[in-house]
Parts: sequence; structure tokens; C-alpha cells
Amino acid sequence: MKSVFFTGKGGVGKSSLSAAAGWQLAEQGNRVLVTSFDPAHNLGDIFGVQLSHKTTRYQKTSLYLQETDLEKSAQEYLRSSVGILEEVYSYTRAFNMDKYFGILRYSPGVEEYAALVAMEHLFREEQQNFDYIIIDTPPTGLTLRILALPKVTLAWLERLVEIRLKILDKRYTIHNITGKHDGKETKLPYTEEEDTVMRKLREMITRYETVQSFLQSPDNNIALVCNPDILSLKESQRLVTGTKELALPLRTLFVNKVTDENEYAADRVEKEILREIPDMELRRVPLYRQDEPECYIMNIDLTGPLGFAPGRTA
Ligand SMILES: Nc1ncnc2c1ncn2[C@@H]1O[C@H](COP(=O)(O)OP(=O)(O)O)[C@@H](O)[C@H]1O
Ligand SMILES: [Mg+2]
Repeated sequence: MKSVFFTGKGGVGKSSLSAAAGWQLAEQGNRVLVTSFDPAHNLGDIFGVQLSHKTTRYQKTSLYLQETDLEKSAQEYLRSSVGILEEVYSYTRAFNMDKYFGILRYSPGVEEYAALVAMEHLFREEQQNFDYIIIDTPPTGLTLRILALPKVTLAWLERLVEIRLKILDKRYTIHNITGKHDGKETKLPYTEEEDTVMRKLREMITRYETVQSFLQSPDNNIALVCNPDILSLKESQRLVTGTKELALPLRTLFVNKVTDENEYAADRVEKEILREIPDMELRRVPLYRQDEPECYIMNIDLTGPLGFAPGRTA
């Protein structure tokens, strides 16, 4: 399975290019899923169909479409987090999380974690069903935070494992001092295997490592969509810096909406970005007049520059 994230400033053409690339890959005989992570979905509008959280087949093709419901993912994420807390700390009644459930939704970071959970689910559940997964991303800031999350979370988890090991070690010492258990008190586990907290931490590490290795794999491409203007260039540069810091692969640059008049600006945008990442594949997409046929963008080959050999891959 190969994946492509279409990133860039709002309005540059991420959804249009995601839709067109997905359509073309499906036409070449691939099983393709195009999924939108942008809360302001318009994938359904592009294809003229009603979409939801559920994967929907587009007509009788091998193209499948989905609009990820981040609100729903956030609820699922919070519910599972509360579930884990209750399971892990079942010997205390200190947590009455239900009381806080409503306001937890507004905690900073919930949106990002919800997107991460949805992404993890996507990679885990759908990878055997599709040759390509195309992801239409939300605004740049949120996208970068989502892409950074596996790495950030892994750093925290490693620290938590260290702390937990110390706790278990102390418990072991105390256990040895107090001698045999009389069976009446609560026995706290002191081995890694018995400890639910440690098991959960290890599970989470495995999950996030899997997502991180997907993101960094040669089969992943973060495609950058830019327009020939300074604002979209500035935002693209933030993505270039962010993805470099995260060691994530920006492989393709689409300069969209190019005309005879803005060709000079297109040259400049390309030069600036290629200076940072010289080996990026480059594709210009012309600006179409709104009175041209509806499927204008569908007819330009976008799959070549994606850096993956065309044709069926599974
Ligand atoms: N090459 C193009 N020529 C003409 N209009 C375009 C082109 N690419 C995108 N558009 C239009 O620009 C607007 C924004 O595109 P969209 O794909 O929704 O951007 P994003 O998803 O990045 O916000 C839409 O109205 C779309 O039809
Ligand atoms: Mg969009």
C-alpha cells in the first residue's frame, strides 16, 4: 500500500488534486481510497456524491471515498482513553472521569489525537484493501501537529516507561521488606508482565511506532500543493521546515493554477522550494477557466510526479 498526503494552504487545490489523483490511479487499475481529514470537507462536492465517515464506493469503479468525521473520532478517542484509565486504575476510585467527559472534548490537542487515531485505524485496517490511500489534509498548522504527534507521543511514552519501571522496582523492594502477602490487602503488581499500566504503555508504543514507520516509509509521499503567490509560498516553506524536522518525505511539488500571467511567480515559487529540497518531483497544473468542462483537472496526469511507478502494485 502506498499513501499520499496532499498538503498546503487553504484554497490552493489540495482537495481538487487529491480527487483527480485518486480518480486517475483508479483508472489505471488500482484500488484507491481518497479520504479527507479536513473538517471543512468538500470531497463529496467534487464527486457530486454524499459522503460520510463510512467508506463509500464511487459508482462502479475501484475508487472509494470517505470524509473522516473528526468529531466522531474525538469522541471515540476520549471514550477509549477514559476506558483505559478506568481499567488501569480500577483499584482506586479517584477518577470520576464521566463527570469531566463533556469538557474534555475541548482540551487542547484532542483534535490532533482524534486525527491520529483515525490515521492509525486507516493504516491498520485499510492497508490490505487498497493499493493507494490518498489523504486530503486540514490546514497546515493542524496537519503539522498531526504529523508530529506520533514522534512527540513516542518521546513521552519512553519517559513514562522509565518512570513506571522505577515504580515497579520500588514496589518490588517494598514487597520484599513486608514479606508474604496475607491476601487481605490489595496486591500491587511489581513485574512488568503483571502490570496493566506497563502493558498499556507498551501497546501504545507499538501502535505509534507503526504509524511513524508508515509516515517515514518509501511508500509514503507528502505532496505539497502551492500556488504562484507569496502567501502560499510562505505556508509551503513552513511545511518544508516542519517535515524536515520530523524527517518526513516531501516528494512532490504541485504548482497549481499557473497562467501565462503568473508564470514568473511560479518560477520563483519552484526555485525557492527546490532550493530546500532539490530532488522533489515537480508538476505545474494550469488554471482552468470556470466555464471549461467540469472534470478539467481530472484529465492532467498527476500520478507520474507522485514518484511511485504507475500500475497495480499489490
Ligand atoms: N487548476 C485549477 N484551475 C481552476 N480552479 C481550480 C484549480 N485547482 C483548484 N481550483 C479551484 O480552487 C478552489 C479551491 O480548491 P480546493 O481543491 O478546494 O482547495 P483546498 O482543498 O486546498 O482548499 C476550488 O473552487 C477549486 O475548484
Ligand atoms: Mg480542501
